[in-house]
Amino acid sequence: MLAQSGARDVVIAYQLVGPNVSRFVALCTAYPEATFRPLVDEPKALAALSEQLEAAGVSAEVLVDLDVGMKRTGIAPGPAAIALYEEIQRLPGVTPGGLHAYDGHIRDKDLADRNRAADGVYDSVSELRDQLVSRRLPVQRLVMGGTPTFPCHARKPDVELSPGTCFLHDWSYERMFPDMRFQRAALLLGRVISRTGEHSCTVDIGHKAVAADPEGARGLAVNHQGLTPVKQSEEHWVFRADDEPAPAVGELFYVLPTHIGPTVALHEFAYAIDRDGTIVGEWPITARRRRIRI
Ligand SMILES: Cc1ncc(COP(=O)(O)O)c(C=O)c1O
Repeated sequence: MLAQSGARDVVIAYQLVGPNVSRFVALCTAYPEATFRPLVDEPKALAALSEQLEAAGVSAEVLVDLDVGMKRTGIAPGPAAIALYEEIQRLPGVTPGGLHAYDGHIRDKDLADRNRAADGVYDSVSELRDQLVSRRLPVQRLVMGGTPTFPCHARKPDVELSPGTCFLHDWSYERMFPDMRFQRAALLLGRVISRTGEHSCTVDIGHKAVAADPEGARGLAVNHQGLTPVKQSEEHWVFRADDEPAPAVGELFYVLPTHIGPTVALHEFAYAIDRDGTIVGEWPITARRRRIRI
């Protein structure tokens, strides 16, 4: 998807296993002008990658994925990470491209606290980098962080940043991190389709249209903030109006999704709208097409 859009430097922030290894080889072959760097965090997967890349006569840089507290993927900074990095240097078809550390567990609301936590992560990653360099291993980049630690790591000249959510931003991060003044760039448009009483209305945005995670309200109705979300099902979202009559059937709801990533992937396309509110384009959402033919 990125290569098709002309990107030339792509981190695949994911472990490649099973059929994704041969698909990665096909990707490298199809786009020789682009550099793709996947993650590794264990020797067997690395060996499979090396074997297939070498057999195809291509070579790729790989990043060692570090577990810096998220406890989801990665290897702890330490002797096993050094051994894995050395193995990359030794094997054919792969070369060491640096370190990757995603610190999505850091969620301090206060920026000073977040900076402290992010600095702790940076220190452990840069210490590992120094150990690798002292063993004459090249560590060309540290790829770190998501949106919450974006302002923290952006202060460090040797970090390549890897946020995603901030490109469109969402209600979850806007609520949690008031220091980050990213613009709301995507809204869902819905309408009241029914009223079950004077103080209750139902909108046509169910969890087929907005991400069903995390728990709680799935979005902020930006033009009806006095309403309380009550329940949601596949195609319906019920709101309660305590102090006023509920909006009438047909009224518009503009909803800022709580979780923008999975919400975007629920839609075939998005309308691009300019400052005056005019629709100026229809953008296909390629990521929704789960079958990428490579
Ligand atoms: C590995 C990795 N890198 C970067 C990101 C982007 O983080 P954020 O959504 O906080 O911008 C994510 C998000 O899930 C991720 O999993």
